[in-house]
Amino acid sequence: ISLRSFNTFGIEARARDYLRITSTAQLQAALADPARAAMPRLVIGGGSNLLLTRDVDALVLHMGNLGKEILPGDATHVHVRAAAGENWHEFVQWTLAQGLGGLENLALIPGTVGAAPIQNIGAYGLETKDVFHNLTVLDPATNMLVTMDRAACRFGYRDSIFKQPDGRHLIITDVTFALPRAWQPNLQYGELAGALQEQGITAPTARQVADAVIAVRRRKLPDPAVIGNAGSFFKNPVVTAEQCAALLARFPALVHHRQADGSEKLAAGWLIDQCGWKGRTLGAAGVYPKQALVLVNNGGATGADVQRLAAAIQADVEARYGVRLEPEPVFV
Ligand code: EPU
Repeated sequence: ISLRSFNTFGIEARARDYLRITSTAQLQAALADPARAAMPRLVIGGGSNLLLTRDVDALVLHMGNLGKEILPGDATHVHVRAAAGENWHEFVQWTLAQGLGGLENLALIPGTVGAAPIQNIGAYGLETKDVFHNLTVLDPATNMLVTMDRAACRFGYRDSIFKQPDGRHLIITDVTFALPRAWQPNLQYGELAGALQEQGITAPTARQVADAVIAVRRRKLPDPAVIGNAGSFFKNPVVTAEQCAALLARFPALVHHRQADGSEKLAAGWLIDQCGWKGRTLGAAGVYPKQALVLVNNGGATGADVQRLAAAIQADVEARYGVRLEPEPVFV
């Protein structure tokens, strides 16, 4: 089966075996078959954080289990649970329609609910871990369901246990979020606050914040339905305060943000832009003209084309700034 329509880069690759998952029970039944359980597996959701570099010699489990519910929660938070296969943005819109704020800064992020914790999706001053309660995984080793809380997920910047060797095998089946009963807008991100100010909105509702996030994203990021991409292709690199100071002495315009631990996060998009890559192409792969951190498939690109472009960018940024950019999507 072709995986082309199941990855937002729109890259052609074939899977050895494919199963659309529509319920946890069906997934457990599939993995109860010893032949299936023994096969290497690739779990995909929306395919929006994936770079397929070759045919996939594995069983592809395509998560399509649906369902969302509001749970009682506790004194301070309402809990909302959604099945892994739910589309992320539709889920965010649904919580807002229920009058529940908390997820609005993460509006319009492509992908599924089940994929959100894997890379701890984040945008505009909010990360999944900030609104996370717990999740359920199926452990294929035992075919049993296990609940994992925030600490067990070991969230980091665009990272979690589900990207690490000891957690990679776990299959997320549903996720529960904790949304504050006393909601306050999160306007830490300058560009978001600025967009609302421009509209004269001083005390925005969650809906208004979501709409502002959607507008900013539409302005800067390509719609994967129109042009193949996987969002930011590199993580923003974190350097020590000393490294940052040394770079600032040479490049006073360097974009940097101090982290709680004193380290400094650099804007990879700025570094790539400064190296002259914005809008450039290499074969059918290119750098998005409005956001240098996003690599795009201009039509018919292979995973190798994208990798070649990524490697050329990494080499230039490293030569100029001494910083190694680390890719964000998972390479298969
Ligand atoms: N910049 C440039 N040139 C560019 C791109 C960016 O100079 O071509 C500068 C901007 O002017 C700005 C800074 O770099 O000063 C940061 O840019 P931006 O606000 O667009 O955010 P980002 O750091 O490039 C990150 C996330 C995005 C997220 C936004 C908003 C990562 C890897 N990316 O991008 O997440 O939407 O912040 O919070 O952390 C994703 O992960 O796929 C993603 C889109």
